[in-house]
Amino acid sequence: MTRVKLIHLSDIHVGRQYFSDELGEKVIRQVNQMKPSCVVISGDLTDDGYYHEYLDAKNYIDRIETENKLIVPGNHDSRNAGDALFDELFGTRYPVCARKGIKMVGIDSSEPDIDDGHIGRVSYPFIRENLSGEDFKILVLHHHLIPIPDTGRERNIPVDAGDVLKLIAELGVNLVLCGHKHVPWLWVLNGIVFLYAGTATTLRIKAHIEQSYNYIELDPGRALKIYRVSSATGQKKLVYKI
Ligand SMILES: [Fe+2]
Repeated sequence: MTRVKLIHLSDIHVGRQYFSDELGEKVIRQVNQMKPSCVVISGDLTDDGYYHEYLDAKNYIDRIETENKLIVPGNHDSRNAGDALFDELFGTRYPVCARKGIKMVGIDSSEPDIDDGHIGRVSYPFIRENLSGEDFKILVLHHHLIPIPDTGRERNIPVDAGDVLKLIAELGVNLVLCGHKHVPWLWVLNGIVFLYAGTATTLRIKAHIEQSYNYIELDPGRALKIYRVSSATGQKKLVYKI
């Protein structure tokens, strides 16, 4: 395995009321300069899942330069029959990417027109099939499987979070990438790193938690470094190393 550089963006809500054009442009510039091997976007590309929002989001994402993009929908994208538009414009709500000793699987944790998360038993065999083996295993979904601080009253955790946590622990998943709460955070549970991305580009932030995204470096021997990157300044802060 050679060094793999991943960018993890989330909750970009392109083009709508709270989207910051200035931050949007900065993020594109920063990401393209970093020349990542892969860019993951863990949902909420739009606000209400309308077609014109999807087109804006697609145009924005198309400007990101990388060999691989792995994108899943969020609850906002599944409003107003947006899940069908997601399939139309991004190909699948269940993307899989395998390269350089890494296996990455994205799942749709949203349901039409509600904010709650649900993975569903029907998806478990898909997860099992694609995240078995010896590769470094990454699961991507929009909703958070474990609560995080500074997000007020807890809600929207996938209704089957417990079963999914058990499944991914059994499979030895290494890293889970998610978003939804617009708060960057990191937990480690049963050897799994749960990495939450804040919003990269919108003004919908909690208190003074600034817009950010994650930069992940995975080296041969599985040395993992995770940095939080400020959307406004591009400054990287190391948040985890193993
Ligand atoms: Fe969300």
